[in-house]
Amino acid sequence: MKIAPSILSANFLYLADQIKQIESEVEYLHIDIMDGHFVENLSFGPMIVSAVRQISKLKFDCHLMVQNPTNYIEKLKHAGADIVGVQVESTQHIHRLIDQIHQLDMQAEVVINPGTPITLIEPLLDEVDSILVMTVDPGAGGQKMITKCLKKVVTLNELREMNAFHYRIEIDGGVNAETIALAAKAGVDVAVAGSYVFGSTNPQLQIQKLMEESQIDEI
Ligand code: DX5
Ligand code: ZN
Repeated sequence: MKIAPSILSANFLYLADQIKQIESEVEYLHIDIMDGHFVENLSFGPMIVSAVRQISKLKFDCHLMVQNPTNYIEKLKHAGADIVGVQVESTQHIHRLIDQIHQLDMQAEVVINPGTPITLIEPLLDEVDSILVMTVDPGAGGQKMITKCLKKVVTLNELREMNAFHYRIEIDGGVNAETIALAAKAGVDVAVAGSYVFGSTNPQLQIQKLMEESQIDEI
């Protein structure tokens, strides 16, 4: 399993240093974009993504928690995003958005909230590059994992195998050294982790711990 650290829990005064500490450990960087409408909190937008791009070569996975995702796609491309995640609940035109993301040569990720069933995204499974299963209600770091969401991971794995789909299966929310074992068992490919990684004085060590715990359960 791969770990995608979420900078939402990083110390923004030392953002560059914090990212440098984890750069060699991981492949993806998870970037949470919140507009204060789709979720209560306001985080940051494409300007920060562009600034971070100057100091990192990681794959940027931009998780949009915004009311009008269409407005962000092109800006994120220019800012250096590799993957754009759209909450299916935030748009009536998810198919068009996926197309828009692909046309700009980025990977399209569809994100589903804990209350959203897989059936809602079933028509999209053959075209998305990644599915992000929210394991908390979006909007804030440091919440407890809603473990029953992992059942969706099991189902998505079965559907992928049955239909030869190619999407990655990711989870986001409440990942720590204990819950990562449950995620591994369910068949998660990439686990996003915010507070567990950046809430510590040694983010690098925290990632190594997560990797270790996830491997134990895969055996
Ligand atoms: C929550 C965000 C997450 C957040 C996860 O809405 O989408 O990416 O950073 O934080 P933790 O790992 O602390 O639950
Ligand atoms: Zn996120």
